[in-house]
Amino acid sequence: MAAGVLLVVVAAAMAMAAAVEGRFVVEKSSVRVLAPEHIRGHHDAAIGNFGVPDYGGTLTGAVLYPPDKKEANGCAPFASKFTAKSRRPVVLLLDRGECYFALKAWNAQQAGAAAVLIADSVDEQLLTMDTPEASPGTEYIDKISIPSALVNRAFGESLKKMAEKAETEGEVVVKLDWRESMPHPDERVEYELWTNSNDECGPRCDEQVEFVRSFRGHAQILERGGYARFTPHYITWYCPDAFKLTRQCQSQCINHGRYCAPDPEQDFGEGYEGKDVVVENLRQLCVHRVANDTGRPWAWWDYAMDYKLRCSMKEKKYSKACAEDVVTSLGLPLDKVLECMGDPNADAENAVLSKEQEDQIGSGSRGDVTILPTLVINDVQYRGKLERTAVLKAVCAGFKEGTEPRVCLSHDMETNECLHRNGGCWRDEATNVTACRDTYRGRVCECPTVNGVQYQGDGYTNCKAVGPGRCSLNHGGCWSETRGEHTFSACSDTALTGCRCPPGFHGDGHKCEDLDECKDKLACTCPDCHCKNTWGSYECGCKGNQVYIRGEDICIASSMSRFGWLVGVLVVSCAVGLGVAGYVFYKYRLRSYMDSEIMAIMSQYMPLDSQNNEHQPLRQQESEA
Ligand SMILES: *[C@@H]1O[C@H](CO)[C@@H](O)[C@H](O)[C@H]1NC(C)=O
Ligand SMILES: *[C@@H]1O[C@H](CO)[C@@H](O)[C@H](O)[C@H]1NC(C)=O
Repeated sequence: MAAGVLLVVVAAAMAMAAAVEGRFVVEKSSVRVLAPEHIRGHHDAAIGNFGVPDYGGTLTGAVLYPPDKKEANGCAPFASKFTAKSRRPVVLLLDRGECYFALKAWNAQQAGAAAVLIADSVDEQLLTMDTPEASPGTEYIDKISIPSALVNRAFGESLKKMAEKAETEGEVVVKLDWRESMPHPDERVEYELWTNSNDECGPRCDEQVEFVRSFRGHAQILERGGYARFTPHYITWYCPDAFKLTRQCQSQCINHGRYCAPDPEQDFGEGYEGKDVVVENLRQLCVHRVANDTGRPWAWWDYAMDYKLRCSMKEKKYSKACAEDVVTSLGLPLDKVLECMGDPNADAENAVLSKEQEDQIGSGSRGDVTILPTLVINDVQYRGKLERTAVLKAVCAGFKEGTEPRVCLSHDMETNECLHRNGGCWRDEATNVTACRDTYRGRVCECPTVNGVQYQGDGYTNCKAVGPGRCSLNHGGCWSETRGEHTFSACSDTALTGCRCPPGFHGDGHKCEDLDECKDKLACTCPDCHCKNTWGSYECGCKGNQVYIRGEDICIASSMSRFGWLVGVLVVSCAVGLGVAGYVFYKYRLRSYMDSEIMAIMSQYMPLDSQNNEHQPLRQQESEA
C-alpha cells in the first residue's frame, strides 16, 4: 500500500479512483496444525507481500519459537541457526512489532527458516504485511525467498505455548497450504498487471522493468498457446474539480484534469511531467488493444520492453517520436494506435482511460488496486515478490490440475523435493536415471524418457527401459560384464524388451554365467579334439596338423589353405551330391524293375485293366474331401 499512498501524497491535489471505495482484500493461505493431536485444526494466515509464497503448493514443517525472548521479534540477526529435532523444515514463529515485517522474514531466512509466521500482537482482522518503502538498508527485501504469513493473536499464542513445550510433548508440526490461495477453475488463466510507464520511482519501478524483461518469454508462450489471457492496466489518478486550474493539475493531467499521473521527478518543473506519463500509459493501453485486434496481444510485452530500452524516462530518452518509432518497428499500425488514443487536450472523456478508472475499483473476489505494481491472477491479487519464477508459479497454480502447459513443468518450477530421498520415487543407482520430477505443485514419480530412451513402470518401485536404444543406458538394466577386452551384455537392441544372456552364457539375463562348452559337450566333440573353456567361448584344438573348423565342429588337415579348404568342401559337396543323385536313380530304377516284376506276377491272376477303372473315381473323392 505504501507506494500508492506516497504517490497520492506527492500529488497532493490528485485522488486515486479506487480511494473512493477503499476495499482492500487480504489474500490468505491456510495453516493446518498436524501435531500435537489436541490442537489439530485449520487456521487462516495472511500472505505477506514480499518473499515467495508457494502458490499451488504446501510446506510441512516444525514450528520453532525463539527461546530467548529478546530474539522473539526477529528484528536483529539471530545468533545461531534453527534446526528442528525431526529435521523437518523450520517454520519460525515471531512476534509482531518493533521493525518491518520484511526484516523479520529476512532474519528468519538467514537463520535457516523455510517459512516465517508472524503472530499478531492485538486482536484484529488479518492484514497484509507489505514491503517497506525502499530506503538505504532495505536492500534485503529483494533477497527474501521464503514465504511469510501473519496469523491472528490467539492462534499465535497457542502455537507459542505448544512450541515451548515441544521438549516434553513433541514437536508442533504445521502444514502451510497455498493450494486454495489461487482459484483454478478452468484451463485458461486470466491475469493483469497494474503498472505505470514511469520508470523513475526507484526500486519499485526497477522491479517492474526487470519483471517485464524476464517474464516476457513466459507470458508470450502462455498467450500464444491460448493458455492465458493477459491484460495490462495502468493506475490513473484524477483531479478534483476545485483544483482543476492549479499548476499541479495542469502539468500532471490530460483531458482537463480527468486523467493524471504524478510528476516523475516530483518537482513540477524539470524533466518530464505527469502528463507525459499519462499519455504514455494511454499509448501502451492502445498498443495492447490494437495488437489484440490484430490477433497478437502478446506484442504488448515487446513494446513494453523495447520502450524501456529505447525511450526510458529515467535516461531522458523519452519522446513522442521515440515511442512511435517503437510502435512502427513492431509492425503495429500507428494510425490505429493514434485513433485509439484520441485527443489528450480535449475537454472530454477518453473511453480507454475511463475504463481503467472503473476497473481499478475492486469487484467480485478482487479488491481495489492500491498497490503499484499489482498483479491480479484469476481475479485474486498476487502477493509476494514480482519476480519471474514466483509469478510463474502463481500463474501455473491458476490452471485446473492436469491442464498446465509445459512451461509450468519446467526446471524453473522445481520444488527440490527430489533432492530428499529422491522424493520416494524409483531411481537407478548405476545411471542416476530417476522417476522423480519436480513441478511447482510438488514432485511426481513418473518413469522418464532419457536421451530418447523410454522407461515404463509404476515410477515408484520399478521403471524399465523399453524400445529402440534401450541398451545404450546401462545395458537396459540387463546383465553386463567386461573382462579384459571383452564385454558381454544381456541387452539386445533387436529385442524391444527383456534381457537374454548372449551365446556362450546361461542365466536369466540379469545374472549370466559362462557356459562350459567343454564339460557340457556342446562343442569340440570331434574325436581326438582337445577342448579348453574360455569366458564366453571355448577353444578347440585338433591333433597333428589339423585345424578346427568352428562352424562345422570338425578338424581338417591344416596343409590346405583356406581356399583349399573351400575347394575341398566344394569337392566333398559335389561328391555327396553325385552320390545322392546316383542313389536316387538307383532306387528309381530298382522300383520300376520291381513294379514291372510284380505286375507281371499279378497279371497272371487277375485282369489289371478293369481294376484300374474301378479305383480311379474313388481316389478323386478322397482328395476332394
Ligand atoms: C482482446 O480480444 C478478445 C477477442 O479476441 C476480446 O474478447 C478481449 O476483450 C480483447 N481485450 C481487450 C483488452 O481489448
Ligand atoms: C549419481 O549421483 C550421485 C550424487 O548425485 C553421484 O555421486 C554419482 O557419481 C552419480 N553417478 C553417476 C553414474 O552419474
